[in-house]
Amino acid sequence: MRAADTGGVRGAQGSPEELAGLATMIARFQTGALDLIHALFPGYVAHLRVAPTSFRPGNVESHKLSWRKDDTLLHVDSFPSRPNRGERILRVFTNVHPGAVDRVWKVGDLFEQTATEFLPRVPRPMPGVAPLLKTLGITKSRRSRYDHSMLRIHDAMKQDGGYQARASHLTFGFPPGSTWVCFSDQTAHAALSGQFMMEQTLHLPINSLYFPERSPLKVLERLSGRALA
Ligand SMILES: [Fe+2]
Repeated sequence: MRAADTGGVRGAQGSPEELAGLATMIARFQTGALDLIHALFPGYVAHLRVAPTSFRPGNVESHKLSWRKDDTLLHVDSFPSRPNRGERILRVFTNVHPGAVDRVWKVGDLFEQTATEFLPRVPRPMPGVAPLLKTLGITKSRRSRYDHSMLRIHDAMKQDGGYQARASHLTFGFPPGSTWVCFSDQTAHAALSGQFMMEQTLHLPINSLYFPERSPLKVLERLSGRALA
């Protein structure tokens, strides 16, 4: 369930009092997440675009849908309906499990290693598809070559059982009460287990980054030798 900046909660059911309590909890988390990012990265404050906040009460292991949506597999984040042309996806997570259950993550290779392996497998975009997706409302804006590449890399990572088995990685359990931050478009990650998590997504333009050359856009452009956004 998600809450927009307005405090409205989407995707939740309950009494008016319960929904009001949920909205308060989500708004409080958003405030805390923004305070944390402001303290950690003061140079980003003026450039952040705040996306809706989400509360994810479900159990990771019982939420496996199709392979494409299976986040227990290593992947980098890319949103099929929301092209971003290289804008960064910065996410703040907090394990809010009321008991003692860790949120267990697997964290994979550096982006450049992942991209070096998977970019050569990305097919050229079909001519005419990006404007058609936009016209049909499937994407909110025109899908750039960068977005096409990131989606195909996301899918190829999840579909490659050999990569999933052999990729070098760390497994770490975030205990209840802990908070972690990552550029989820850059960090190969998988959520293996856990329940009850808060998440705040923030977007950052490429030209505001401390190290733009490390961004997925710049890495993919360097590896492919062409502009992608
Ligand atoms: Fe993810």
